[in-house]
Amino acid sequence: MEVVILSGKEEAGAVAADAIEALFRAKPEAVLGLATGSSPLPIYNELARRHDELGLSFTQAQGFALDEYVGLPVGHPESYREVLRREFTERVDIDPSRVHAPNGAAADLVAACAEYEEAIKLAGGVDLQILGIGTDGHIGFNEPVSSLASRTRIKTLTEQTRADNARFFNSLDEVPHHVVTQGLGTIMEAKHILLIANGGQKAAAVKALIEGPVAAFCPASVLQLHPHVTVLIDEESAVQL
Ligand code: GLP
Repeated sequence: MEVVILSGKEEAGAVAADAIEALFRAKPEAVLGLATGSSPLPIYNELARRHDELGLSFTQAQGFALDEYVGLPVGHPESYREVLRREFTERVDIDPSRVHAPNGAAADLVAACAEYEEAIKLAGGVDLQILGIGTDGHIGFNEPVSSLASRTRIKTLTEQTRADNARFFNSLDEVPHHVVTQGLGTIMEAKHILLIANGGQKAAAVKALIEGPVAAFCPASVLQLHPHVTVLIDEESAVQL
């Protein structure tokens, strides 16, 4: 695990964009794993800028979202498919039909999870997975005590995660209780994982991710077993290291 402490979000966004740009210049058909939350935003902003100003192209790319809420109607502004469209995919030249997200509105969610796993496999796997981290150490929506070998499945959010994410909704009541998320085992199959975290509220999770035991209590700690992980953090989230 490579840990890089940077001056702040903008620098982290630029360093992450460097890795993503290098990947797409070498392999235009690469598969990108997409995360939501506020942490990856500087990466998407920088990729959109490089697309506009430097001709960085994603026409042959594929994208796979990490997770999705269950029960939000298709097109809901806070569904992760919509968030990713707004924050990234509509700002670059990626073909929208090549951007995938778990179907949280499916009548048969178990089948939808299996189909999502299959789609990732058919695409040849994720080349570079962008990740944030929850204050409780979750990645995707793999909450504490998730199986370290888990695959894409339905999960129940903890009250802490619902409260953390209530800022994106009008009230806590509107935050769904259930989600579909790639499992930890699914995420671990990405060839390169790039995790970004900022701010003092992430310090405990960042410590557990990097220095803690590999344990389901901190799902992100499983990344210690991955051969190619880059962790981009600011000084505030690094204070407990
Ligand atoms: C949500 C997402 C995670 C994300 C986390 C942290 O729970 N499912 O993928 O890492 O939020 O979000 P933020 O970066 O806004 O702190």
